[in-house]
Amino acid sequence: MKILITGIAGFIGYHLAIKCLEEKYEVIGIDNLNNYYDVTLKEKRIEELYKKSLSLNSKFNFNIKNIENYEKIEKIYKNFEPNCVVHLAAQAGVRYSLENPLAYINTNLLGFGNIIELSKKYKVDNFLYASSSSVYGGNENMPYKESSQVGHPVSLYAATKRSNELIAHTYSNLYSLPCTGLRFFTVYGPWGRPDMAYFSFTKAILKNEPIKVFNKGEMLRDFTYIDDVIEILYRLINKPAVAEKNFNKKEPDPSVSWAPHKVLNIGNSNPQYLMEYISAIEESLNIKANKVYLPMQPGDVKATFSDSTSLKKWIGFHPQTPIKLGIKKFVEWYLRYYDIDL
Ligand SMILES: NC(=O)c1ccc[n+]([C@@H]2O[C@H](COP(=O)([O-])OP(=O)(O)OC[C@H]3O[C@@H](n4cnc5c(N)ncnc54)[C@H](O)[C@@H]3O)[C@@H](O)[C@H]2O)c1
Repeated sequence: MKILITGIAGFIGYHLAIKCLEEKYEVIGIDNLNNYYDVTLKEKRIEELYKKSLSLNSKFNFNIKNIENYEKIEKIYKNFEPNCVVHLAAQAGVRYSLENPLAYINTNLLGFGNIIELSKKYKVDNFLYASSSSVYGGNENMPYKESSQVGHPVSLYAATKRSNELIAHTYSNLYSLPCTGLRFFTVYGPWGRPDMAYFSFTKAILKNEPIKVFNKGEMLRDFTYIDDVIEILYRLINKPAVAEKNFNKKEPDPSVSWAPHKVLNIGNSNPQYLMEYISAIEESLNIKANKVYLPMQPGDVKATFSDSTSLKKWIGFHPQTPIKLGIKKFVEWYLRYYDIDL
């Protein structure tokens, strides 16, 4: 298996690459190592990947490239000829999309367009791409099913991810490119993202600095542990989307198609209040947080809650790691990585 992973220096890309190297897949990765968050962490992840590939004697190659540059990315497709592409590179983050909207337009729309067009041109057998739970936007009918309404995004980030799903469906329909959209629900774990609350809370608590708790902590999130996500991606790499033979065009189910396209929720189906997950961090660190309560932020949603029925049916697995265990593993990694002795 020859696999191309975009956003490989990112949190999910890094973990997926480790799994692929262990499976002896030939891995090529693309990332522009941008400074949206700590570049050193991205570089360290790449360093780890090189070490892992050496110790396992697996083939690994990393390219610093911007997915917005079609010609440069085409050279990689031409030389490598991937069977499977997992497209994870994106401008992530809901709040930052209010500050820097063009980063989302350029990377998530133009960049996505380049990657899917090249995947079609070079006849990739399986195209997986990151969408997001944020596509459910203003919909408050929970748990979210893939067949639920997604017509009311509340941030530009969400709108770009929903656009990706629509573009992917078109490619499946016109060119029979098998596409699976991954609606991730708040993924967390070791080597995680410094821009996400679990990471910044841990950092602040350790420095005895206050943490900002939005909407009085009355936010529900379906936290999904990284190892569960990687098991799912591994199974999906080996199971491209297929056309739904019994698709009813008179009563269309938006989660599947007559073309080889599907979208899947990748969430824990067990939402937790923000306060419970702050308690899990406090317990793991054995330090109480100093909490500052602030109003809801524009672009945020109050709750996310995934229904995993389709995922279970399709690959026979769904995320199950409890938040306390996942946060404990994150905190252990954090203390090791930053060399902190409590
Ligand atoms: N982690 C989550 O909770 C979560 C939730 C929903 C959706 N997602 C989506 O999953 C994917 C992976 O998320 P992540 O948490 O690993 O994020 P991440 O930010 O850690 O990884 C994304 C990587 O893409 C790279 N990148 C960004 N723009 C690029 C460009 N123009 N060219 C090349 N590389 C570029 C970044 O440098 C980064 O390393 C993203 O598409 C994200 O939107 C993640």
